[in-house]
Amino acid sequence: MKTIIVIGGSKGIGNAIVSSLLSSNNKVVNISRTSPEQSHENFTHYNCDVLHDELPDIGVADGLVYCPGSINLKPISRLSIDDFKSDFEINVLGAVKAVQKYLAILKNGNKPSILLFSTVASKLGMPFHASVAASKSAVEGLTKSLGAELAPTIRVNAIAPTVTNTDLASKLLRNERMIENMNERHPLKKYLEPQEVADMAIFLLSDKAASLSGQIFEMDCGIVSFKL
Ligand SMILES: NC(=O)c1ccc[n+]([C@@H]2O[C@H](COP(=O)([O-])OP(=O)(O)OC[C@H]3O[C@@H](n4cnc5c(N)ncnc54)[C@H](OP(=O)(O)O)[C@@H]3O)[C@@H](O)[C@H]2O)c1
Repeated sequence: MKTIIVIGGSKGIGNAIVSSLLSSNNKVVNISRTSPEQSHENFTHYNCDVLHDELPDIGVADGLVYCPGSINLKPISRLSIDDFKSDFEINVLGAVKAVQKYLAILKNGNKPSILLFSTVASKLGMPFHASVAASKSAVEGLTKSLGAELAPTIRVNAIAPTVTNTDLASKLLRNERMIENMNERHPLKKYLEPQEVADMAIFLLSDKAASLSGQIFEMDCGIVSFKL
């Protein structure tokens, strides 16, 4: 049994990760601004805003997952410097704060690892993604740098999903036509459900991924990898 800290496990991909971790016999400590629906003997929740509050002290951890992120899509002429700063804060600085807070306990953990989230928009140039792509590219740099710095003790990886059916992406999937277009844009004719991303997360946190660190895993439904 591992103890995994999930920042942002109340909704979306993070919530699917929490459910999967609990059903595969792990302990989960969730940190988010609202409480998730889970109630389980191995589940603890702290109400906390990762950017503005002090993160709670936790005794032991074998893994850390940082889920908060943004999809702030605007033409460059409409993106303010404050947009760039707030995207950087939630995607990058929140993750840095969490890693710094829990580094000491992770170092004492059982085959510990850290999991961060990027996006396909770091590899694939897409209009209106300048701010989020800049922040998520920083997450990818952080993943590689920390992977090197913390080897061999702590593995560090990131998942870079394409559109995933969560609250965060709801504006991109708000009607049947948009859903059809989104399926059509992807060579595999689909986008992601949170559980598919959670399945990859569970693997990367597990000892089955003992040889993987500093990697960015594109879950792209073909949109980055293929030109048909
Ligand atoms: N969904 C997509 O299409 C997509 C595509 C590419 C990449 N991603 C990336 O994948 C990751 C997960 O995305 P998602 O769609 O699952 O996001 P989501 O539905 O918005 O969930 C984000 C989670 O983070 C928590 N959170 C947000 N701000 C927080 C804060 N200041 N302090 C503490 N907790 C906070 C939220 O909980 P509370 O609101 O309760 O605090 C929630 O549990 C993100 O990094 C995102 O950028 C998503």
